[in-house]
Amino acid sequence: MDARQIEELCHIVGDQLGHPAQIILRDDPESACAGYLNAPSFSQQCLQELAAVENRRWAIRPGNKGQCWVTLQLSERTGLGWQTHADEAEMSAKLAMVTVDHFLLERMQLGQTQEIDSLTEQVMDDFEELALLRSLAESLPLLQEDESPEQIAKRFIDPLALGLGAESLVAILAEGSSETNESKRPGIQKLVWNDAPFVDPAALESLLDQQAETAKRQPVVQNHLELPTQINGQLIREMILIECRSETHLHGWLCAFNRIENQAADQQWAQHGFTTVQASLMQTATNQLAAQLHNAKLFRQKENLFTDVVRALVNAVEARDPYTCGHSERVASFARCLTQLSGRSLSDCDRIFLTGLLHDVGKIAIPDGVLQKPGHLDERERAIIETHTDAGWRILHELDALKSVLPGVLYHHEHYNGKGYPDGLAGEEIPWEGRVLAVCDAFDAMTSDRPYRDGMPIKKACEILRGGSGTYWDPTLIDLFVDSIDQIDAIRIAHKPRAAAVREKPGTNAPSFAAAD
Ligand SMILES: [Fe+2]
Repeated sequence: MDARQIEELCHIVGDQLGHPAQIILRDDPESACAGYLNAPSFSQQCLQELAAVENRRWAIRPGNKGQCWVTLQLSERTGLGWQTHADEAEMSAKLAMVTVDHFLLERMQLGQTQEIDSLTEQVMDDFEELALLRSLAESLPLLQEDESPEQIAKRFIDPLALGLGAESLVAILAEGSSETNESKRPGIQKLVWNDAPFVDPAALESLLDQQAETAKRQPVVQNHLELPTQINGQLIREMILIECRSETHLHGWLCAFNRIENQAADQQWAQHGFTTVQASLMQTATNQLAAQLHNAKLFRQKENLFTDVVRALVNAVEARDPYTCGHSERVASFARCLTQLSGRSLSDCDRIFLTGLLHDVGKIAIPDGVLQKPGHLDERERAIIETHTDAGWRILHELDALKSVLPGVLYHHEHYNGKGYPDGLAGEEIPWEGRVLAVCDAFDAMTSDRPYRDGMPIKKACEILRGGSGTYWDPTLIDLFVDSIDQIDAIRIAHKPRAAAVREKPGTNAPSFAAAD
């Protein structure tokens, strides 16, 4: 018991007994009864004696004129004392003891009730957090390969707004490559709202100007605001602002506005205004969003690197034989069209396009004299050029990301009758990719201009393809290709070879690479 409780108890006991009681402190001689001779020493002696005896809580000392002094022990060094008639002394001690026990029991129950209330509140908070995390987890599929940052943010903020009970939630995506060590706050690139815009973009800029620095350190939670939103005269009453960053990159901020009032009856824990519970939930969700945005960025970088490497390989081939410039891209486009016409999946279409780009990569290994020779090749030269399919396989086979293009690279010169190269496969033995590319490769070779001849007319090329159906090429694919020749030819006509990159030579304003004196 603390001093305040002892004092309160002293009053209660006094009321019960009908006459005043006093607090006795064993170590304080001044604490005892004024007006009753020797009472202090009586009480302090009694407390000492009671402390030494078990199961005895009060002591009675006779006084003058039939009066007694009763001391009731509260603790080893504290007690209550009062004066009473000798006949009533024991009864009053028992009454006071029951009063004290009742008081202590009440306080203990009150403490337990408060503890239960506190635990209940904590459980409700945890339950709310779990409910939101569950709802977030259920609504967050794995990162899709082609998702934009806006789409990723939208997937997060819809369930998050619901879970927070926020009237409005916005993902503010930051401009450019904002490294975390940049001191200047990046501008707003895009706003993604869970619903209709709630705050004017200029007001959001102003909000970031005021709070972005604080949000670097911790979530900003503000209640009891009365700020106009600049949209439909609405007011911002409450707000949470959280910075969305991964280790090296600031992606932007998440901002929730106004806790929805009158929550449903089954959400009795819901409170008006935002608390640390909502801030904590929002921080968790924001961390997940940052991780996905970061992964998406890495994924895009990887994809770009992959595309650049493929382009570099194609450039390397075409740099050897400039007259075939654009051949690989045209074959890739025809092959994608033919694959689509065959009813194949989108991923098959993408894969055959990539295979088309790389189908002649092995020509890097063919000597210039053979590769660039105009006109017909003799038997020895033909044997050399026929090694380009195996050379292509050797160049690419160790790259895991390009394993799927190997069948087309290796087998695009097989003939349907089994008399092609490198392995003399026939019919359906030839991988499907090889059969598709054989048709497209032949069509482009026939219809493209060369320094020593013009490309042949489309009609004649189709006749040759028809004539070689079943001998050189897959009959089903030839039928499909020739029947769709208008669509194929439109691709050929629309194709524009990419211009070769031209390096700028150092000029007067160019940086000097000369060694400093
Ligand atoms: Fe080839």
